[in-house]
Amino acid sequence: MKKHLRSIAATALLLTNTFCSYPINVDGVGTFSEVLSQEIISKRVQELGAQIDEHYKDVKSPIILIGVLSGCIPFLSDLIRSINHSCELETIKISSYHGGMKSSGKINLKYDSLCERSLEGRHIIIVDDIIDSGLSMSWLVDHFSKKNPATIGIVSLIIKEDCNAIFNTSLIKAGFIRSQEFLIGYGLDYKEQFRNLPGIWALDQNK
Ligand code: IMP
Ligand code: MG
Repeated sequence: MKKHLRSIAATALLLTNTFCSYPINVDGVGTFSEVLSQEIISKRVQELGAQIDEHYKDVKSPIILIGVLSGCIPFLSDLIRSINHSCELETIKISSYHGGMKSSGKINLKYDSLCERSLEGRHIIIVDDIIDSGLSMSWLVDHFSKKNPATIGIVSLIIKEDCNAIFNTSLIKAGFIRSQEFLIGYGLDYKEQFRNLPGIWALDQNK
């Protein structure tokens, strides 16, 4: 495992198990098998909540969770309920994938619930479903840095192991480290579908 990933996901699990749930066939793409069950995700989200509470225990003001739409929704709704610290909730929507399986490499801002709100002196955490190349997250960190928050944290359910991005933030947590496989479920989509799967499924490499 890469050295910088070890520090990002100090207690993240590197799970490569395939679970026994049913495979899903997607026309023209291939077969997906379940790799992270609902139970494993749920346990890990509770751990992340406890780690966030510990990290911000001396912060008196509410922390602001900023969810990256739309993939963050299942993760964020579970994560926020596993945090005891007072929280506020905001959202942002950007696009880089344009519905396919490869990033276009260009970020477009679609919506920002914070566009008229000051973040001066506040502690914010950007919550996303997955960090792949890290381009989107680097763009988001840069975007919110301009508003002078006291600290910026990043929490992503998944980080892909080939991510080389270095983020200049006070907190970086990931639930799971995965290889470069394409994933769907628990917020992750293929052409906007499959976000409602309770666990996470990976595209089989050799089929
Ligand atoms: P990045 O900018 O390359 O880090 O890509 C980040 C965004 O691409 C994520 O927030 C997802 O929306 C999307 N993405 C990256 N990998 C996957 C995947 O395996 N499945 C579904 N979406 C993905
Ligand atoms: Mg996303």
